[in-house]
Amino acid sequence: IINAEMIKSGLSDTIFESGIIYTPAVDSTNTAASSMAQEGAPEGTVVIADSQTAGRGRMGRSWQSPPGKGVWMSFILRPELPANEVQTVTLAASVSVAQALERLTGIKPGIKWPNDIILGSRKVCGILTEMNSEIDRVNYIIVGIGLNFSQNEGDFGVDIRDTAVSMSMHLQKCGVKYKNITRNDIIKEVLASFDEYYEILLTSDKGRIITDWRKYSVTLGSRLRVHARNGEYCGRAVDITCDGALIIETDDGSIKNVSSGEVSIRGIMGCK
Ligand code: BTN
Repeated sequence: IINAEMIKSGLSDTIFESGIIYTPAVDSTNTAASSMAQEGAPEGTVVIADSQTAGRGRMGRSWQSPPGKGVWMSFILRPELPANEVQTVTLAASVSVAQALERLTGIKPGIKWPNDIILGSRKVCGILTEMNSEIDRVNYIIVGIGLNFSQNEGDFGVDIRDTAVSMSMHLQKCGVKYKNITRNDIIKEVLASFDEYYEILLTSDKGRIITDWRKYSVTLGSRLRVHARNGEYCGRAVDITCDGALIIETDDGSIKNVSSGEVSIRGIMGCK
């Protein structure tokens, strides 16, 4: 059972210390957090739901969010950042989730660019970052995190059954004890970790976020297929820029920067 008070108790001195809101069911925590931000809710407001009736994923996809089986949460940020640096916030969120999972379980997850968290070769968590901005300044950002916690294979729709995994499925397979890890522990750990990266991002060295992202990357060095707006091509990911764009050496030898879109990596999420 998700308990806002319990989560809050571990987060004093963070941006999340005062604004944790729990609701049993909502259409989408991103949509709810966005309406609250429009009405002036402060940075650090977190909306957590036990279930979502219209959970949203990247690229206009939906996100399966059954009751009691996952962490479905979104938080509001109001950073003084130019819009082109917002991608780093998303990378910070993915590193925070990876770090939290590693701290709690001892198992090191992977990050598939830009921000899918992978256990084994399947997706355990996705992040949807949405932004409200003017041409040169960010009004607010909503970071939405969806983490599969206790689903069995049969709980996933057939469309994602071969590519999705929950924490409990993976930990069971690895023989790791997991029954004492709660969703409250995960939320607290993710938010505490994000708070640290956010502070770094705003005050000092965003290179640190990229450095830590690299440690979890399953993308750099891999052969992959890039799904870009203007078509698809294959290549190898050679590096990531300080703004989070992937540098690809394409099969015809040219170098391309990919700052949005998606990649498929052989062997990951069912990709052949
Ligand atoms: C993805 O496509 O990988 C991103 C999935 C993000 C899902 C989370 S669940 C909480 C928040 N509310 C939403 O509607 N979406 C995000």
